Amino acid sequence: MKIDGNESRTIWYENNVVKIIDQTKLPHKFIIKDLKTVKDAINAITIMEVRGAPLIGGTAAYGLVLAVKENNNLEFIIKSSEDLIKSRPTAINLKWAVDRMMKKILGTNSDQILDIVLNEAKEICDEDEKFCENIGLNGLRIIEEIYNKTKKTVNILTHCNAGWLATINWGTATSPIYHAHKKGIPVHVWVGETRPRNQGANLTSYELNEEGIANTIIADNTGGILMQRSDVDLCIVGTDRTLSTGDVCNKIGTYLKALAAHDNNVPFYVALPSSTIDWNIKSFKDIPIEVRNSEELSHIEGIDEDNKIKKILIYPKKSKALNLAFDVTPAKYVTGLITEKGICEASSDALNKMFK
Ligand code: MRU
Repeated sequence: MKIDGNESRTIWYENNVVKIIDQTKLPHKFIIKDLKTVKDAINAITIMEVRGAPLIGGTAAYGLVLAVKENNNLEFIIKSSEDLIKSRPTAINLKWAVDRMMKKILGTNSDQILDIVLNEAKEICDEDEKFCENIGLNGLRIIEEIYNKTKKTVNILTHCNAGWLATINWGTATSPIYHAHKKGIPVHVWVGETRPRNQGANLTSYELNEEGIANTIIADNTGGILMQRSDVDLCIVGTDRTLSTGDVCNKIGTYLKALAAHDNNVPFYVALPSSTIDWNIKSFKDIPIEVRNSEELSHIEGIDEDNKIKKILIYPKKSKALNLAFDVTPAKYVTGLITEKGICEASSDALNKMFK
């Protein structure tokens, strides 16, 4: 998608280094950063220079390319894969990508191993871009149906950033919106700011602005009243891990949006590539929910009058804070799953039918 009018991806390989957009500096500064070692890749995931389940997977894949480049001793590569998986616990794409890369690495005893793993990492990213484009084409039908009925601007509420900045390109929740916009369907997006790291305000609104799509940032608790007032036609969010039961784990606050949507009969869709389905865990209580540093809550970053990014304390010094990064929306509150293969119910039968 576009940045300053130029097509861009979120990660690519160039002159033997991995290039990323440092998302901790957005929306105020657009900085391309080099990842030269597997440690750089692990750090980029941990401190969220890259974030969003599919992009975390893509970065882990390139992280193993950097590991092989550094030292193709198998012990080092296996340790690197374990450290990559430990960098963040909730997004299943991380383990999915590492397992896929390790299968390739363990299956290869050629001295072409670097080319082979580089090719696999590129394939994982190309596939994700294609899957997200198809998610958009499948989700477009939902937006078209609403527009054909109302002939009015379609108001879509989203939460966090499940945009192209969270994937390789197109995004998941945003992809149907980009396709609708390209097709001339009037859309407007309610963007939940998504405290405490504000991925909605800093990233989703930023990328929608770059594509010329109307959007309004709202405080996270505003979604409910907008639904009561029928100002929301549709909710589309992403996911970090969707169980084969249809239960959906996504950014903290998603569950509350789903409850409000259910109470107001607003369709609540979840967009995901198949790489984000967890076929192993059966109970959502077993999903590892990330607990991040409470400073992300007690402090906030912004740009000061000298155009410098500054972090300030906003809470009373003595107060404690708990920073849970994700929650789970039970399948019963999900209208449907928008995948690269089509739209299905959030249930085991439907997911097995579509993917198994
Ligand atoms: O903590 P983050 O920014 O990595 O959380 C991201 C989300 O929750 C996204 O909605 C999810 O990863 C889907 S991205 C297509």
